[in-house]
Amino acid sequence: MVRFISKNAKDTYNIGEKLGKLLFPGSIVCLTGDLGTGKTAFTQGIGKGLGVTEHVVSPTYTIINEYTSGRIPLYHFDVYRLGSSDEMYELGCDEYFYGDGATVLEWADSVEDVIPEERLWITINKLEEPDQREIIMEASGLIYEKLLKEMEKSENIGH
Ligand SMILES: Nc1ncnc2c1ncn2[C@@H]1O[C@H](COP(=O)(O)OP(=O)(O)OP(=O)(O)O)[C@@H](O)[C@H]1O
Ligand SMILES: [Mg+2]
Repeated sequence: MVRFISKNAKDTYNIGEKLGKLLFPGSIVCLTGDLGTGKTAFTQGIGKGLGVTEHVVSPTYTIINEYTSGRIPLYHFDVYRLGSSDEMYELGCDEYFYGDGATVLEWADSVEDVIPEERLWITINKLEEPDQREIIMEASGLIYEKLLKEMEKSENIGH
């Protein structure tokens, strides 16, 4: 487990960017955290780290947005409005999970049963100071454990 402290939205973006640089085809990043904790801000940073040039926006109403301008595709889900995880299959989620891009899911906890076991699980919590967040990252699977070791090396932010 790796824990970062974010002091503002820019920090969250920067931590996401660092992660985005390390993502690979078929990688899965699960984001959980209350409304407005910064899941989308974090994903925008991931987009930056992947080299996405389009503006990454919340897919709250579309459920999924795809960006193909980066090093690898970014599949950005927000499953807040999904009624059940069965709808994930209807959306063809496996093609994303096992595809050529990186999948990022906001509100991943609500569809956890359809997400492959090997993934990076990230929880964002608000702290007492209004703009402060803790960002907790947990790896399942060797490849994500290695990725987290790389994240730990980041000197600029957190700890
Ligand atoms: N440390 C921080 N990290 C991220 N966002 C922050 C932070 N401090 C303040 N903010 C603000 O909190 C808001 C986070 O919004 P964002 O849409 O990224 O959250 P979200 O978790 O995706 O929300 P939703 O649950 O609606 O999808 C932004 O307005 C941002 O400026
Ligand atoms: Mg969001």
